[in-house]
Amino acid sequence: MKVLITGGAGFIGSNIVHYWLDNYPKDIVINLDALKYSGNLDNLRDIEKSPKYKFYHSDISRYDEIEPIFKQGVDVVVNFAAQTHVDRSLYEPNEFINSNIIGTRNLLEACLKYQVKRFHQISTDEVFGDLAINDKHKFTAETLLNPSNEYAASKASAEMFIMAYLHTHHLPATISNCTNNIGPYQYPEKFVPLAITNILEGKKVPVYGTGKNIRDWIYVIDHCRAIDVILKKGKPGERYLIGSDHREINNIQLLSKIIKVMDIPGDWMEFVTDRPGHDRKYAVDWTKIGKLGWKPKYSLDQSIRLTVEWYMKNTRWWKKIKSGEYRKAYEKIYGKNY
Ligand code: DAU
Repeated sequence: MKVLITGGAGFIGSNIVHYWLDNYPKDIVINLDALKYSGNLDNLRDIEKSPKYKFYHSDISRYDEIEPIFKQGVDVVVNFAAQTHVDRSLYEPNEFINSNIIGTRNLLEACLKYQVKRFHQISTDEVFGDLAINDKHKFTAETLLNPSNEYAASKASAEMFIMAYLHTHHLPATISNCTNNIGPYQYPEKFVPLAITNILEGKKVPVYGTGKNIRDWIYVIDHCRAIDVILKKGKPGERYLIGSDHREINNIQLLSKIIKVMDIPGDWMEFVTDRPGHDRKYAVDWTKIGKLGWKPKYSLDQSIRLTVEWYMKNTRWWKKIKSGEYRKAYEKIYGKNY
């Protein structure tokens, strides 16, 4: 089988490229990535010479760049290519419109034209908006789209195009909405890798607002396993929510766990101005994918420990990133270099 992974040089994308080559050695994995700020070929050094792996430096927002890849024949497309950082969407929304909406629509068009057997969209639980902190409800596959920031709005728009292609053209498409991921190769602008790398550098960790916002954290390999299950057993036209088995946890509690695992003495938390429109809580009911035989394998403590260990071992990887472009973006968000 030929699997096209878009955004395969990013965090979750590069994890699934590794996962797929390890688990399906007979398949060909094609990685299409525009190598924007968070796409990083260092994530794929160990497999870049594999005869089962091919890389194309192309941008999904340019149909002319992606069509030649489809012409060679592709069985399955998994679309990870996206702008994903909420804070950035607040000051550069056009990047989100180009990659997340126009890019997805280009892929749908190419899938239709070249009769791809399955298109799978990696979406997010953020398309459902947020829940009140004390709300006991969880998002389900029936929850209506109700995005509350520009990143989420772009992902929700992409989903609407998919629904239109499903209805009008019967394109065999599935969607998954996963909660917050952690693990190797996550760009250190997201909360967990930012926290770990800041502490390793002796810097404080900026905690937005009260630090009481709640997220549901999952280890990236569990997300890869879920996608594998959806591609094999999921039904075209369906969406599947992917979440963890842990109690929901707020940002202060999560950071405290990270600090405990790292065991470096210091006063690491610094409360800073809140993110505008900061979503209060995400919680996901993953019963539907559970019925396909998936459940998360990694506990929260294991996920944190594995992630901390990876960043402690791979200092060259993140130092290269933090010394460059990252700084400029962070000056825009915080007004200083966190
Ligand atoms: O829920 C899935 C989504 O999770 C994905 O679709 C997004 O691509 C991904 O970025 C993530 O969104 P969040 O906004 O939840 O992730 P982030 O790591 O930016 O923030 C996690 C929490 O930590 C959130 O409540 C904001 C807070 N935070 C974040 C940063 C970067 C801080 O307190 N300080 C920070 O410096």
